[in-house]
Amino acid sequence: MTGLMVSLAGKSFAGQAVLGHISFTLDAGERACLLGPSGIGKSTLLNLVAGFDTDYQGTITPPHGRLAMVFQSPRLLPWRTLAQNIALIPGAPDLAAARTLLAEAGLAEAADQYPEKVSLGMQRRAALCRALAVDPALILLDEPLVSLDPATAEQMRQLLRRTLDVTGATALMTTHDRREALALADRILEIGGSPATLVRDRPSPLSRAERLDPDKVETAYKALFKHPD
Ligand SMILES: Nc1ncnc2c1ncn2[C@@H]1O[C@H](COP(=O)(O)OP(=O)(O)OP(=O)(O)O)[C@@H](O)[C@H]1O
Ligand SMILES: [Mg+2]
Repeated sequence: MTGLMVSLAGKSFAGQAVLGHISFTLDAGERACLLGPSGIGKSTLLNLVAGFDTDYQGTITPPHGRLAMVFQSPRLLPWRTLAQNIALIPGAPDLAAARTLLAEAGLAEAADQYPEKVSLGMQRRAALCRALAVDPALILLDEPLVSLDPATAEQMRQLLRRTLDVTGATALMTTHDRREALALADRILEIGGSPATLVRDRPSPLSRAERLDPDKVETAYKALFKHPD
């Protein structure tokens, strides 16, 4: 079954081409990382896939079912507690179920706190819970681990893998970090150039079990990106 079909011919901002031809298809349940340097157009592409921006050339076909996006900045409503942030979205569960989701993300104690009272890592996890609350068929994650300290990033990485394992959702994540892509993805889609095109589309050399091992990630990183261009 198909999880996502992208056949982009171009995307411009005010006449300036940012994205060129980018075509790929994800199987249902597949986890792909869109890899590329800062400013290349990763968030732009994610916004197109999410349907937030419909001003582009080409065709993007999301799967049947719900779509959820986890933004780079958590975007929680500051006047709602973490649990209320999850319970208040359309189609989401009640407060009790929101608390259960938060508890599974290690946030039981923080469920009734306001976002500004908790760390960025906790806000990120809450934002992930909010996305999962709608049981999405496709989940889009924009730089889910950026600006987290190593221990918090590891916590988030584990939560992300666990939740994707449980939900079976198709996932499209963005990152500029090659090791991160190897640690999380079944498939690595590298974009580059100006306007950005798909320069490499390859399956991860690591199985889901193998990529839990940081040594295996490091070995694959050296083998795959020895001659970065
Ligand atoms: N709404 C907009 N209007 C005009 N230009 C934009 C807009 N959004 C993005 N851009 C431009 O498009 C290009 C790609 O930006 P984008 O945010 O998609 O990059 P990115 O790969 O996500 O970068 P980062 O890794 O820093 O998040 C940049 O040159 C940016 O200035
Ligand atoms: Mg971005």
